[in-house]
Amino acid sequence: MASILHLLLFLSLLSTQTCSSKTTTFIIQVRREAKPSVFQTHKHWYQSSLSSVSTTASLIHTYDTVFHGFSAKLTSDEARKMEKLSHVVTMIPERVRKPDTTRSPQFLGLTTADPTGLLHETDFGSDLVIGVIDTGIWPERQSFNDRDLGPVPAKWKGQCVAGEDFPATSCNRKIIGARYFSAGYEATNGKMNETAEYRSPRDSDGHGTHTASIAAGRYVSPASTLGYAKGVAAGMAPKARLAVYKVCWSGGCFESDILAAFDAAVADGVDVASLSVGGVVVPYHLDVIAIAAFGAASAGVFVSASAGNGGPGGLTVTNVAPWVTTVGAGTIDRDFPADVKLGNGRIVPGVSIYGGPGLTPGRMYPIVYAGVEQFGGGDGYSSSLCLEGSLDPKFVKGKIVVCDRGINSRAAKGEEVKKNGGVGMILANGVFDGEGLVADCHVLPATAVGATGGDEIRRYIGNTRSPAAAATATIVFKGTRLGVRPAPVVASFSARGPNPVSPEILKPDVIAPGLNILAAWPDHVGPSGVPSDGRRTEFNILSGTSMACPHVSGLAALLKAAHPDWSPAAIRSALMTTAYTVDNRGHPMLDESTGNVSSVFDYGAGHVHPEKAMNPGLVYDISSSDYVNFLCNSNYTTRTIHVITRKSADCSGAKRAGHSGNLNYPSFSAVFQQYGKRRMSTHFIRTVSNVGDPNSVYKVTVRPPGGMVVTVKPETLTFKRVGQKLNFLVRVQTRAVKLSPGGSSVKSGSIVWSDGKHTVTSPLVVTMQQPLE
Ligand SMILES: *[C@@H]1O[C@H](CO)[C@@H](O)[C@H](O)[C@H]1NC(C)=O
Ligand SMILES: *[C@@H]1O[C@H](CO)[C@@H](O)[C@H](O)[C@H]1NC(C)=O
Ligand SMILES: *[C@@H]1O[C@H](CO)[C@@H](O)[C@H](O)[C@H]1NC(C)=O
Repeated sequence: MASILHLLLFLSLLSTQTCSSKTTTFIIQVRREAKPSVFQTHKHWYQSSLSSVSTTASLIHTYDTVFHGFSAKLTSDEARKMEKLSHVVTMIPERVRKPDTTRSPQFLGLTTADPTGLLHETDFGSDLVIGVIDTGIWPERQSFNDRDLGPVPAKWKGQCVAGEDFPATSCNRKIIGARYFSAGYEATNGKMNETAEYRSPRDSDGHGTHTASIAAGRYVSPASTLGYAKGVAAGMAPKARLAVYKVCWSGGCFESDILAAFDAAVADGVDVASLSVGGVVVPYHLDVIAIAAFGAASAGVFVSASAGNGGPGGLTVTNVAPWVTTVGAGTIDRDFPADVKLGNGRIVPGVSIYGGPGLTPGRMYPIVYAGVEQFGGGDGYSSSLCLEGSLDPKFVKGKIVVCDRGINSRAAKGEEVKKNGGVGMILANGVFDGEGLVADCHVLPATAVGATGGDEIRRYIGNTRSPAAAATATIVFKGTRLGVRPAPVVASFSARGPNPVSPEILKPDVIAPGLNILAAWPDHVGPSGVPSDGRRTEFNILSGTSMACPHVSGLAALLKAAHPDWSPAAIRSALMTTAYTVDNRGHPMLDESTGNVSSVFDYGAGHVHPEKAMNPGLVYDISSSDYVNFLCNSNYTTRTIHVITRKSADCSGAKRAGHSGNLNYPSFSAVFQQYGKRRMSTHFIRTVSNVGDPNSVYKVTVRPPGGMVVTVKPETLTFKRVGQKLNFLVRVQTRAVKLSPGGSSVKSGSIVWSDGKHTVTSPLVVTMQQPLE
């Protein structure tokens, strides 16, 4: 029953590469209804199934709400026996995930001044519950105070689970639930070190405290980090309730624990699940987060997830299941300039939120590049990345050190420079990093510069190596700058499409603020995140799609408060069709990595616009059976669909839907394989629901991708009632273009419905691929 190719491959790898006593955690799905009546509970039954294949294994978690089954650590022999049991549907070997490492409310136009605005209309999201699945929370932060909040919503079934340094009184009317899931982590990594991390919902990392306060932090004033970004800090839905599900530990975020968190969150009654954790690129029936999110979405829970920080390259987007809202990152109109002044008088722009004693004003310091040989005579070494233990104090003492960006911790490089007597650091991007910059709370005077500036500095040092003309520099910190133009810009690190799993679904869906975001921070960790950092701050400034995701989680709570009957797909539709693609100069949104105009693969439908999303006019709704049709048309089998939906799939209705691009999504993506064809065409069927005014007439405007013919029928949609649904058909026709084998061409346009009051915009992207050979 459960024999799947992927599992067999995995097991055969295990048996050839390791001895058979090596154990792996499996997430095991069972046919729930097959439970023999002799077992009182499912747990008893699972325990018995496990005992029948293993004398040593124990249950890690059991799952009842978004998934039916359990997790356990098994040897390859035991796994083979387990999968032969007739009630076992599938077994997925566990993977380990990682967290994807304010001014944003104002930047998003969320103001308290407007009494008819989204915040007032929804009472700031009161009575909606956002579940944050992350590293836990530091509950004493001002952002989580419960002043003036009403009683805990009556529907809430969750708990405040006490633990190390986290009494049950840590919860209040703001943090109404807190749980932690470590059994999967400890099954693989052994017992956790309770000196280094808390066996409780308390956050020893900072990521979860930060993301929770972005989604639903209260108003706190004054707020700043080391004097930067002064102002009022607030989350998106300041009165929404938080439920915290800690799944990420020092060893990572284990899938068996993540699934347990989703299972609990949905049973507890969250309205929104926020997941700033990295994804994987595998079919949905092998992706534990996609499976868990399907269970959540079919229970009416909106799931937003970070797109990942693998940009700016293409095909990097993760968490791409069509029932998840996938969020990329943009900049806001605030930055933290910290420029490098070179001995030759040139100024190279940089950014930093270093807040300690600075360099002596007016003084120039010797500057060296860590990437050159640090000893004479050819037997020296170099580490342009300033890895721990790589610098020679003789080489760096008293100097400003240039380190290449690479992928090791940016703040840890500063720590290495400081430890060896360096007075400052310049973090210089290389060609792969482009011009994208992230401001950090460095432990010494330091700034980050782009690839062009980095090359100039490295060249300057290289050309002034003679003893007569020593290279010198200083760093000038300029504090916080507001009103930056252009903004937003797609953040360099933000992961990009096309969608590697389902090219017919454009991902990411939207972008939201994710660069240099100020939010709450634990008292246990310095703002740089490096262990030696003894500084303590109420707030910290971080960057990542991890920060963009909870913005959308909070907005989804506001939208659900305003429209309690909207499904997760309707909420996403409202966010997508009202998103914008121009910056604050009125020009097309740029890409930070190149400075060039960005594309739909970078931002999806565009940047979220909360006030407009409250009143989108029309929505593209999607039901669970539409997702099943999508899976049928994507060639998933009835068995693999069962793994995702826990129901027997009927793919006969899917034939009517035609192809996977016909999922009722608010964006359109056509993929053509040229195969020597001259002309190609496809069509999309869509249904829009009127959520605006009765008796409204919408007319279509088509902006076809360059050189293509796009027709929409009918061109006018006349709605009599609110809630009425109408269909339309989009036909796309194009000629083949000259491409080299394996090459592709991408063009985009849009389809816009308007009744004169609402503008409902969908991106349309057409990809033409020339097969290899
Ligand atoms: C536990 O963590 C503490 C603090 O980080 C560390 O000093 C100690 O060596 C760790 N213990 C073990 C057994 O790893
Ligand atoms: C950016 O635009 C310039 C000028 O149009 C072009 O030469 C360059 O190739 C573009 N860079 C990328 C990465 O697309
Ligand atoms: C599904 O399989 C059919 C037949 O092989 C193929 O034409 C179609 O492109 C496939 N669809 C997807 C989404 O892979």
